[in-house]
Amino acid sequence: MKTITLKYPKQITFGNNCIDNFIEDYLHLSNKKLFVVTFPEILPTLEKTFKKLKNSNVNIFIDTSIISEPTYKTFAKVLQHAKDVQADSVVGIGGGSSLDVAKLVAAQLNNSQLIEDIIGIGKLKQRTTYLACLPTTAGTGSEVSPNAILLDEIDNLKKGVVSEHLIADAAYIDPVLTYSVPPKVTAATGMDALTHCIEEYTNIFAHPVVDVYALEGIKLIGANLIDAYKNSQNTEAREKVALGSLYGGLGLGTVNTAAVHALSYPLGGEFHIAHGLSNAVLLPYVMKFNMVSSTERYAQVALALGVKKQEDDLSTAEKGVERIFEMCKFLDIPVKLSELNIPKDAIKRMVEGAMKVTRLLNNNPRTITKEDAHNIYLEAY
Ligand SMILES: NC(=O)c1ccc[n+]([C@@H]2O[C@H](COP(=O)([O-])OP(=O)(O)OC[C@H]3O[C@@H](n4cnc5c(N)ncnc54)[C@H](O)[C@@H]3O)[C@@H](O)[C@H]2O)c1
Repeated sequence: MKTITLKYPKQITFGNNCIDNFIEDYLHLSNKKLFVVTFPEILPTLEKTFKKLKNSNVNIFIDTSIISEPTYKTFAKVLQHAKDVQADSVVGIGGGSSLDVAKLVAAQLNNSQLIEDIIGIGKLKQRTTYLACLPTTAGTGSEVSPNAILLDEIDNLKKGVVSEHLIADAAYIDPVLTYSVPPKVTAATGMDALTHCIEEYTNIFAHPVVDVYALEGIKLIGANLIDAYKNSQNTEAREKVALGSLYGGLGLGTVNTAAVHALSYPLGGEFHIAHGLSNAVLLPYVMKFNMVSSTERYAQVALALGVKKQEDDLSTAEKGVERIFEMCKFLDIPVKLSELNIPKDAIKRMVEGAMKVTRLLNNNPRTITKEDAHNIYLEAY
């Protein structure tokens, strides 16, 4: 068996209302200047939390300027804000956009490296500021991952910082925080989490330790996402999708994602399609492409999605792809790139962009050439 090293936050707390555990734990620290990266809609929900912290003499500095997927420029503004108030600790409370920025703010507060210098794997040298992450979407797994993604406005490409220093000190996954997520975002983020699990399980670097989480995540999300979408107050479905999302996150730092994510980045970069949505649209097409070289694994994915075993693995795997299309239909997610208002002549540029994401393409179970990428986009169009 291959050797694997697991690096996670020192503390991962999961459960309804565990935002209270965050308060309790934070008050045991000596920090008194907490910088909060969050988003406007959640502020009423956070009122009680902030009040309790303020009553214990914690100064709270709230930044809600990250409304959607962050760019170099929007990140730089938030970092400056944190520097101006001389924050001594950072918490991200939000979707992947807020969490990624919180992670980078904590890392860059006392670091002389420029953001351009830390893009890539293992380039960030340190993080000296306390960092906690509380996800409010069930999707990215950023709360436990070593990754943070920013859009470079110059070449319209999404770029990743991957470093163990970006792993939060503590993650609190409180499913209650996801109750207010609008249906469209529930669908897209849930499919993002499902994509994490599928790409981890079928990854060239797949490992039995991660397989356990990935398969269970596929089961949980496959069985509960549609219920969470249809009824945002279905607390059991919300809880199970949040757990599935955490499981997906636990594989990001070890085996990570693959071609779905690589091909989806240019859709976010140039056309600002939400990360989860672009993954969801491309997922079944990449699965179709990959399954010939990893048939048994894709058959297991299909079974975890709840489909019946067929006469052979390939037929079972094909049923899994059908199930993804069916889920997208129930979740009102388009199944074609053309439905996302992407012009056909953009495919050539998207291929160029995707082929640059070698850190993820290298994980794919089947080698993807430029021509393959072109054909996958065309089929998905
Ligand atoms: N670091 C990682 O490991 C990792 C992994 C996957 C994706 N990402 C990145 O994460 C970003 C996407 O994150 P996301 O999909 O969570 O979406 P998001 O953070 O962009 O949020 C999407 C929308 O949902 C709203 N929202 C979030 N939680 C809500 C709540 N509880 N109630 C009401 N509204 C709510 C936000 O305000 C926003 O408008 C992308 O930039 C992507 O590249 C990072």
